Amino acid sequence: MAKRNKISIIGAGNIGGELAMLVARRELGDAMLLDIPEKEGVAKGKALDIMQTGALEGFDAKVSGTSNYADIAGSDVVIVTAGVPRKPGMSRDDLLSINLKIIRAVAAGIKEHAPDAFVIVISNPLDAMVYEMKKQTGFPKSRVVGMAGVLDSARFQCFIAEAAGTSVKEVRTLVLGGHGDTMVPVLSACTINGIPVTSLVEKSALDAIVDRTRNGGGEIVKLMGTSAYYAPASGAIAMAESFLKDQKRLLACAVFLEGEYGYSDLYMGVPVVVGKGGAERVVEVSLGADEKAMLDKSAEAVRGLIADSAKL
Ligand code: NAI
Ligand code: 2OP
Repeated sequence: MAKRNKISIIGAGNIGGELAMLVARRELGDAMLLDIPEKEGVAKGKALDIMQTGALEGFDAKVSGTSNYADIAGSDVVIVTAGVPRKPGMSRDDLLSINLKIIRAVAAGIKEHAPDAFVIVISNPLDAMVYEMKKQTGFPKSRVVGMAGVLDSARFQCFIAEAAGTSVKEVRTLVLGGHGDTMVPVLSACTINGIPVTSLVEKSALDAIVDRTRNGGGEIVKLMGTSAYYAPASGAIAMAESFLKDQKRLLACAVFLEGEYGYSDLYMGVPVVVGKGGAERVVEVSLGADEKAMLDKSAEAVRGLIADSAKL
């Protein structure tokens, strides 16, 4: 009999709840929602609510809540959302010291109970958190990735479609670098059904879109008082699904770099083929001199965060 996939989600907050719903709705497998003991009721309650949605929507998936790491045993995928989200006026980097302690505790739980899982980190500041996850678990780099580029590229895609007056489905975008204000939306790789976007949308509008993409997270924090959760959850599900179904999608993910794009010993967003081997292969695209200079700046910002983490 075929084995059902198991997807564990650490942190049953806004993104965690939406992730469990997407796992169930798409019947990707069974979902285990884990939170701290004080929030175990929230994890169990969300799980029950989603199971009951299955009766209405007609999906088969078992969703459970827990605060016990033993319950994540046998996970194919673990998605980590544990941490504090950004509040208005707070930068991603301000989150570093609080979320670093949380990630260390979560990494210990995953290492002990789900040592074979593909781990997708969402917690911010993303590039430093995923670096710490790999360091603490000692898992191979193919099995520890960060979700941010997929989200940033989706935001870029959405804004381009709006400006061009086309379906968002026709737009292809790429955002490289760290998940921060220095991220690099790559206009030279952006097309609308194969047509370079630069020939369809005016430069001034594109410049404004690049800025809006860079501030895409902050824009939503300002509106809602907390950070986005629907698109972040969808981004991680795209990565999990590509792994579980060996789809070999080419997705912008934060991966551990060892010489690719000229960077080493850091996590940063680059295009990666995601399949049953996890982050299987980094694809190197040629960048203009200005894009490479921006990527260098982004890498420096990420290095700074990693250096700060090492002191905490
Ligand atoms: P949330 O506050 O709604 O949920 C976080 C959950 O983590 C809470 O339920 C909390 O109790 C739990 N938690 C805290 N410590 C824990 C621990 N030691 N073990 C298990 N669970 C623990 O936050 P939300 O909105 O779900 O965001 C989660 C994280 O994702 C934040 O750090 C946020 O900044 C980040 N984020 C990252 C994005 C990206 O593109 N990478 C996009 C949006 C948010
Ligand atoms: C986002 O980009 C705040 O990282 C979070 O929505």
